[in-house]
Amino acid sequence: MISAFSSWHFPPQNLTFEVNKIHVWRIFLAEAASCLQRFQQTLSHDELTKAERFHFQKDRTQFMVSRGALRAILSQYVDINPRALRFEYNPYGKPSLIVEQGGNTLRFNLSHSHGIALIAITKNRDIGVDIERIDTNFPYQQIAERVFSPLENAVLRSLPEQIQLKAFFTCWTRKEAYIKAVGKGLSIPLDCFDVTLAPGEPPALLNFQEKPEEASRWSLIELIPSPDTVATVAVEGYYTAIECWQWPGDAILVSR
Ligand SMILES: CC(C)(COP(=O)(O)OP(=O)(O)OC[C@H]1O[C@@H](n2cnc3c(N)ncnc32)[C@H](O)[C@@H]1OP(=O)(O)O)[C@@H](O)C(=O)NCCC(=O)NCCS
Repeated sequence: MISAFSSWHFPPQNLTFEVNKIHVWRIFLAEAASCLQRFQQTLSHDELTKAERFHFQKDRTQFMVSRGALRAILSQYVDINPRALRFEYNPYGKPSLIVEQGGNTLRFNLSHSHGIALIAITKNRDIGVDIERIDTNFPYQQIAERVFSPLENAVLRSLPEQIQLKAFFTCWTRKEAYIKAVGKGLSIPLDCFDVTLAPGEPPALLNFQEKPEEASRWSLIELIPSPDTVATVAVEGYYTAIECWQWPGDAILVSR
């Protein structure tokens, strides 16, 4: 049985971060919402404008709290005030720090779902993260037929019915984490590559149509952020350690 990372700890005061390490921060958004006012003061004009465009208050708050936490966390790694951090975006919307603030070295990705945000951070290699809640009312069979590859559908159908729902969301986060790491989002057709999904199989990218070299370029790591969610980190190349931190709401020191 391959273990998923399910232990989340408060960080020590002097947190170290070396090349080949991955840090993943878990933020409970309802808890972090107590920092909303402070966070709002760190957001850029563009971010505040984007927040205004959300129709529902809960989406607006989710965006502002997770952006505020992202700024607070990244500021520790690059030693720059959260408000002074500047993001740029690739043509598909993936944010990164500007090069002058270390964006070429420090890479990150963020995902949020139903009250939890995850922020994955590494150095010198692309990274993506995706979290999904295991929604028991989700019409997973129809969606799998529409978006998963033929191999993934065959594996999903071969599993006992009571474990198919979790396998579906596991597969979904593996695929999303990969496309987010590449940075091209849903412009990559989800059915043109295969990932593992059967319980006990190591998380992995198996085949990418017409790009066989992709499978060995990426590592996938399974996380369990809470009992009803699954998550995956996709990272370019190999890593030596992953550390899962609970965001405490207070600044912590990072020694680099
Ligand atoms: C990226 C994408 C897969 C996000 O999926 P999701 O499950 O809805 O959302 P998640 O919570 O996991 O991730 C959202 C976060 O990913 C990041 N993100 C946005 N675009 C991204 C991309 N292309 N690649 C990686 N990360 C991206 C952002 O930090 C975003 O958070 P924010 O909205 O608070 O800024 C999806 O929105 C997508 O495919 N976007 C691409 C759209 C596109 O191709 N646009 C082209 C315009 S020409």
